[in-house]
Amino acid sequence: MADGFPDNRLPEHGTEADEVLARMQELRVDDRDWRGGRVFSLVYSAGDQVHELLERAANLYSAENALNTMVFPSLGWMQNDIVTITTGLLGGDRMPDGEGEGVRGFLTSGGTESLLQATKTARDWGRTRRGIDRPNMVLATSAHAAFEKAAHYFDVESRRIAVRSDFTADVDAMADAVDDHTVLMVGSAPSYPQGVIDPIPTLAAIAADRGVLCHVDACLGGFILPFLDRLGYQTKSWDLSVPGVTSISADLHKYGYASKGISVILYRTPELARLQPFITSNWLGGLYGSPSMAGTRPAGPIAAGWAVLQYLGMDGYLRLAEDTHAAATAAKATITGTPGLALRGSPDATVFAFGGDPDDGRIDTFALGDALAERGGWFFDRQSPPDSLHATVHAGHRAVIDELCADLTAVTGELLDSGKRAEDRSTTYGTA
Ligand SMILES: Cc1ncc(COP(=O)(O)O)c(C=O)c1O
Repeated sequence: MADGFPDNRLPEHGTEADEVLARMQELRVDDRDWRGGRVFSLVYSAGDQVHELLERAANLYSAENALNTMVFPSLGWMQNDIVTITTGLLGGDRMPDGEGEGVRGFLTSGGTESLLQATKTARDWGRTRRGIDRPNMVLATSAHAAFEKAAHYFDVESRRIAVRSDFTADVDAMADAVDDHTVLMVGSAPSYPQGVIDPIPTLAAIAADRGVLCHVDACLGGFILPFLDRLGYQTKSWDLSVPGVTSISADLHKYGYASKGISVILYRTPELARLQPFITSNWLGGLYGSPSMAGTRPAGPIAAGWAVLQYLGMDGYLRLAEDTHAAATAAKATITGTPGLALRGSPDATVFAFGGDPDDGRIDTFALGDALAERGGWFFDRQSPPDSLHATVHAGHRAVIDELCADLTAVTGELLDSGKRAEDRSTTYGTA
């Protein structure tokens, strides 16, 4: 790793800004260069012009604090706009009987916080409306790890149910796991690990029938599925227009192409939404109200999120979705058309998992990942079970996808009968 400032203490004297920035460039030497489109994880790119806009918008608000929008009303307006636009995209205007009027939402710092909030709201709903003191939630093994964090933080039992062989949630088995202490059922649109959309209408109907809440985790899909739907590339139902869905989350900092630090959570009714904000006057500082986990909230991500929605508009997002879909389709076709390789399940959107075909058995998935990195600097997260490489395809990949496909074919050819196996079997998503 590159060295930071030499002795790890606050420097005795300040340093010129140019010098500080130059040191930062040096520190970045080992960082993955995502700009060339070789990284299929963590970063979403809609091109240099969008990145420039995000930087300029965030800079305008680098000092403001979104804790109090009465002091900075522009932040209140921007938040409102983002929530309203997201409500429209996530089916709010297709809900029966004007139900869309009741949808309320909040911005959070990211997907994890949105899922924490969904779980906490469900816990509080169970406690106050149903008298449930030992709550549980029922979710598939494919639901995001952040739900485990939520279970841990808020003392909600996590009942994980094995997915079906196609990696979708086994809604029948989930129904069997619901009991009098269940407050929440969860579906993903799509799931992170294999990119499949769960059977949301069936799941939400079961939740409604059993009188429990149903959260759709569309953190990943919330800002691309609406456009894939419009383009006709995806036909499953997954959003607020599905009866029984009581809350939904969508990350603007993923396929919304915003800067990191912004997600949206929407509740079907004002009554449910009211459970999220925290308000107290039990201290010496007056009435304290806060809609999300953080107190002081960075304004930059809100400003950048608002700016990118305005800048891209419907046609911009449709164009990006078209590019992303074309890139993902090309990569998936190469994988399914290359003997020795296979996708994991049938991914519904532009995120997928792949690796050695288990029926063929000749390609070790992690050796494939190593060979792709070595040959073309391609970076895919490793995950298990089952062993696979994870690809989050974004619009910026369209320009390099043919090169990736050629490299995939070439390294598979080299590995096929080599018997090569990666020694390192580690799979880490996040920082351990
Ligand atoms: C389906 C899903 N939910 C939640 C999250 C968590 O989002 P974040 O990393 O922004 O906290 C992710 C992240 O990839 C995700 O794919």
